[in-house]
Amino acid sequence: MAVEYITSRNLVDLIYETVRLMNKSMAHHGMRVSYIMSKMLETEGTYEKYEIADFMVLALLHDIGAIKTDDVRKPLTYEAKNPMQHSVYGYLFLRYLSPLEEQSKMILYHHMDYSKTKDMDYKYSFEMEVLKVAEIIDIWQRSFGAKFDYRLLEKYSGTKFDPRVCELLAKTIQKHDLIAQLRDNSYRQEYGKNVEFVLLSDTEKEKYLKMLMYCTGLKEEQTVSETVATIYVCRELCRKLKMSELDKNEVYYSAMLHDIGMLAMPTELLNAPRAFSDEEKNLIKTHVEIMEKTLENKLSKEIIRIAAGHHERFDGTGYPRGLKAGVMGKKEAILQISEQVVNAMEAKPYREAHTKEDIVEELNNGIITGKYDGIVTDTFLKHYDEIMDKAKQKAEIALVTHQKLLRNYNQVYANLA
Ligand SMILES: [Fe+2]
Ligand SMILES: [Fe+2]
Ligand SMILES: [Fe+2]
Repeated sequence: MAVEYITSRNLVDLIYETVRLMNKSMAHHGMRVSYIMSKMLETEGTYEKYEIADFMVLALLHDIGAIKTDDVRKPLTYEAKNPMQHSVYGYLFLRYLSPLEEQSKMILYHHMDYSKTKDMDYKYSFEMEVLKVAEIIDIWQRSFGAKFDYRLLEKYSGTKFDPRVCELLAKTIQKHDLIAQLRDNSYRQEYGKNVEFVLLSDTEKEKYLKMLMYCTGLKEEQTVSETVATIYVCRELCRKLKMSELDKNEVYYSAMLHDIGMLAMPTELLNAPRAFSDEEKNLIKTHVEIMEKTLENKLSKEIIRIAAGHHERFDGTGYPRGLKAGVMGKKEAILQISEQVVNAMEAKPYREAHTKEDIVEELNNGIITGKYDGIVTDTFLKHYDEIMDKAKQKAEIALVTHQKLLRNYNQVYANLA
């Protein structure tokens, strides 16, 4: 499967589901802000439906930086008291790792007063002001409950908010029963209809899928570097095994998204500097089924199947299903070996990195006991240095942007603070 088989709608749903794995209330907030923004732009009257839909995707992701910079369980802290950190990180994340490079500045300033942004020369200034209002409407309507009155906003017209946008909001609320729809969740249906208009090119789809992989780094850096390394070890191994283009592609996307279920794990656990208890190990094991559920009906069954097999072993000792050789093939074996080797090479808080000798011994034993697929493992061992050197080089190049993001964060934050 190549990206052209994923529909734009499925990809937007996958983005939503991924944010939901990280934090449910952030995902709901994103969806509501996305909806409010779409209704406001619709009321404004000069936007095409597909243009509105693009901003809806951005709105869905507007707080994503908070996963990295703040305790996401405390939205009032990052949304009201100290909003700069998540704004900066979210901006850089989208600028470097998504197709929303041009629109990403909207995220940088989404908590900044209109009095400070009004003279800015930026292509999306107006939409940025709309995002600010859409976001505050959702925060206020939830905090004030039944007492909420959108006219509260007028007090800040010209200072915190753009007067044109305050007017637009009043018009939108008069036309559509926005607040009531948000309260009884009926907005969801229309949100669904509006995102149908998202139209992504293949390049954008590819970038979004990669972005979802980079989301794992919002919780724990090592998952990203290991996933990227796994992708390239898989790729080199596929080449040596002369896999077809289709097979290579399927292995590629399954390698990219195989650990996305880790996003549902508590950050404290992922970063705990110790070995895990049995209970914690069992919790972590659920990341496979979570990934399957998240990707279900959005990516091809084959990709999900390969990804779901990354902790299975050919002798039936793996998880979650304890599958055996007869029901698994080369593609699963490629991902299993690659993931296993990359994981072994990394130092963990509870053990040192394995040496090449350790790894070779483990794989050789695995061939004898039937734990690993013989042909794939043999091919890997025969070309060990070549595969690992090439994969290392390519992974380093691929991770440059991600590292640039981490470096720039401190700089941009210092400049704005
Ligand atoms: Fe927000
Ligand atoms: Fe925010
Ligand atoms: Fe995993």
